[in-house]
Amino acid sequence: MKPTAAITAVGGYLPEFKLTNSILETMVDTSDEWITTRTGIKERRILKEKGTGVSYMGIKAAEEALAKRGMKANELDAVIFSTVTPDMPVASSAAFVASEIGATNAFAYDLQAACSGFLYGLFTASQYIESGRMERVLLIGGDKMSSIVDYSDRTTCVIFGDGCGAVILEANPEGLGLQDSILRSDGRGRQYLNIKAGGSMYPPSKETVELGEHYVHQEGQQVFKFAVTNMADVSAKIMDRNNLHADDVNWLVPHQANKRIIDATAKRMGVGPDKVMLNIQRYGNTTNGTLPLCLYDYESQLRKGDSLIFAAFGGGFTWGAIYLKWAYDAA
Ligand code: UT7
Repeated sequence: MKPTAAITAVGGYLPEFKLTNSILETMVDTSDEWITTRTGIKERRILKEKGTGVSYMGIKAAEEALAKRGMKANELDAVIFSTVTPDMPVASSAAFVASEIGATNAFAYDLQAACSGFLYGLFTASQYIESGRMERVLLIGGDKMSSIVDYSDRTTCVIFGDGCGAVILEANPEGLGLQDSILRSDGRGRQYLNIKAGGSMYPPSKETVELGEHYVHQEGQQVFKFAVTNMADVSAKIMDRNNLHADDVNWLVPHQANKRIIDATAKRMGVGPDKVMLNIQRYGNTTNGTLPLCLYDYESQLRKGDSLIFAAFGGGFTWGAIYLKWAYDAA
């Protein structure tokens, strides 16, 4: 039988500093009431330590996942880091994390698919295992969004936060783990959510910095429209083609960009709020961190054999859904 790829451990890291809605009220023209009703967010974490990048959080999340599994880093075959905020534009953060944790037998690279990065990573990592070429892959997802957010722009600074999660994927003899995936992209969406400068099209210059073009720019309403429709569509489709009814789904694991998008997706699937993983109120949108941090927070409630539907939508545009069977009862 072809091996399946199952998640066997979860780790996470959230910086200590809490940027609350009331602090944001002192920084930009906003209110706790607006942020709460429009997004569901109450606070987000910010990585304040000087000179630290996303790898700082990735290393901590990875080490926790390895410790929980009782696995040595040198047993890993690959390390993938899904992120839009690598430590540096060139030199992969995954390679640095792999070296720091001692994953000396792994190849490592970063994966960039905006908010769908962890979903894409879950699929990619699983392929290495399903093919039989690899047995153990570490997938990290997370971002230091505070490094690309303009804290004078109220339309973006209230949304994003910093955080990182990590999972270990292993070959599973019982058919548990990844069952099906639908991944999509549409590059025409990049006009609505991007960082204009700093890449090869508009290299960084004094002018691009003065214009704030190195910050993330989002046309919220446009992205919202596409996100609501597409996240709900793929989630319903993956249920349909696997003959899953709402009762068969134990958990929806949605990207945490906006509570209203999450509610719309759950509604379309017919899944009640008790089955929806939600931590946006505490962390905001951590981009690549949202899905693994949901697993991190809900791990103790997951049971072997549970059916999970992951769904995400993000910049690019990129989006998708994954159907996964959980492989263990957490201790
Ligand atoms: O994770 C990657 C994918 N991203 C997403 O999925 C995000 C999708 N978009 C969204 O979640 C929402 O569009 C936002 C939360 C970003 C914005 O919510 P919205 O309900 O779409 O608000 P809006 O952009 O339509 O703005 C409504 C009003 C505007 O004022 P006027 O023009 O009606 O006077 C904005 O200027 O709210 C104003 N506004 C704010 N007011 C207080 C925008 N940001 C703020 C703010 N505080 N922080």
